[in-house]
Amino acid sequence: MNNGETLLSVEHLCQYFGRNKAVDDVSFEVKKGEVFGLVGESGCGKTTTGRSIIKLYDITSGNIFYKGERIAAGTLSYKEEIKAAKEAYKEAKKNGTDKAKLAEIKADTDARIAKAKEEMKAAMKDHKKHRTVTDIQMIFQDPIASLDPRMTVGQIIAEGLVINGEKDKKVIDEKVYEALEMVGLVREHAGRYPHEFSGGQRQRIGVARAVVMNPEIIIADEPVSALDVSIQAQVINLLDDLRHKMGLTVMFIAHDLSVVKYFSDRIGVMYFGKLVELADADELFEHPMHPYTKSLLSAIPVPDPQFEKKRQRITYVPLKEHDYSVDLPSLREVTPGHFVYCNDAEYEKYRAQVAE
Ligand SMILES: Nc1ncnc2c1ncn2[C@@H]1O[C@H](COP(=O)(O)OP(=O)(O)O)[C@@H](O)[C@H]1O
Ligand SMILES: [Mg+2]
Repeated sequence: MNNGETLLSVEHLCQYFGRNKAVDDVSFEVKKGEVFGLVGESGCGKTTTGRSIIKLYDITSGNIFYKGERIAAGTLSYKEEIKAAKEAYKEAKKNGTDKAKLAEIKADTDARIAKAKEEMKAAMKDHKKHRTVTDIQMIFQDPIASLDPRMTVGQIIAEGLVINGEKDKKVIDEKVYEALEMVGLVREHAGRYPHEFSGGQRQRIGVARAVVMNPEIIIADEPVSALDVSIQAQVINLLDDLRHKMGLTVMFIAHDLSVVKYFSDRIGVMYFGKLVELADADELFEHPMHPYTKSLLSAIPVPDPQFEKKRQRITYVPLKEHDYSVDLPSLREVTPGHFVYCNDAEYEKYRAQVAE
């Protein structure tokens, strides 16, 4: 399914909206050819993560690499480093550190600041160099809101090509027709307007708009959440079909685990801006560790009516589960490839469970 080559690497991504830490220190990799599922309840930062990757934001902090090249970077971590260096010096001065020692600290502070400034400059240079990355395309959550009602379907699908500098009308038309046919629509649809289509067809238009760019990665943001259950499977099947035909890598965003279950190779679970668990899909379902993941799993209906009757939903209450007052959490690898957001005590507990 994949040869282990990393296509996309998200490192310590932070995207803050004022005080709202929508995405807070999230790191993961997406490997070539895989389906990476990103799951979590509404408002936990999934869309913001996707939008950060396609550079709809100037991210607050962290780095995003595509094929090893840094395509996006934020400045906050560098600014914090500069601040911390200054504080350390101030503190030493205040504490009446002797002159020789203070000079030493000053030199060290200046070096730290110079290094952070240089790194920040390099980060911003990379960030600005890649205004957009056509290799990464996103299918948006809401197929109605994301299609401009005043544009024809043809214009909507062609928009990315035009922005990308394609001027030849014939080339554009051919690509649009090809994209329409790939998603199960016909070329005659190009002259029509979005409102003339059903929800499922509109999402096909959304898919066509992404595939026309011949991307390497598609970020599908809850592509079926807004659709009738009866047509959800059609759109999922279309994505799966295209993925094989085009050799795509997919990041599939969903708010519950039932949709991603059969489709994903690996799954990341988000909770309030944090990535709390990351593992192979099978591993995550068989050995969930984080209590939030367990609660998500408990919410999946099962086809067995006997079992379904007895199914107990587990609610996740963070304050009951964790004491992060002193022993602070971070994302840790508990078993190879299985990462959990936990502190030292929890890490030991998870390790012990594995050993049993
Ligand atoms: N453009 C924005 N401006 C301000 N806050 C935003 C913006 N987009 C998202 N948010 C906030 O960021 C958080 C994460 O939102 P989002 O990424 O859309 O979550 P999800 O896709 O998981 O439902 C929410 O609290 C949301 O209100
Ligand atoms: Mg969303």
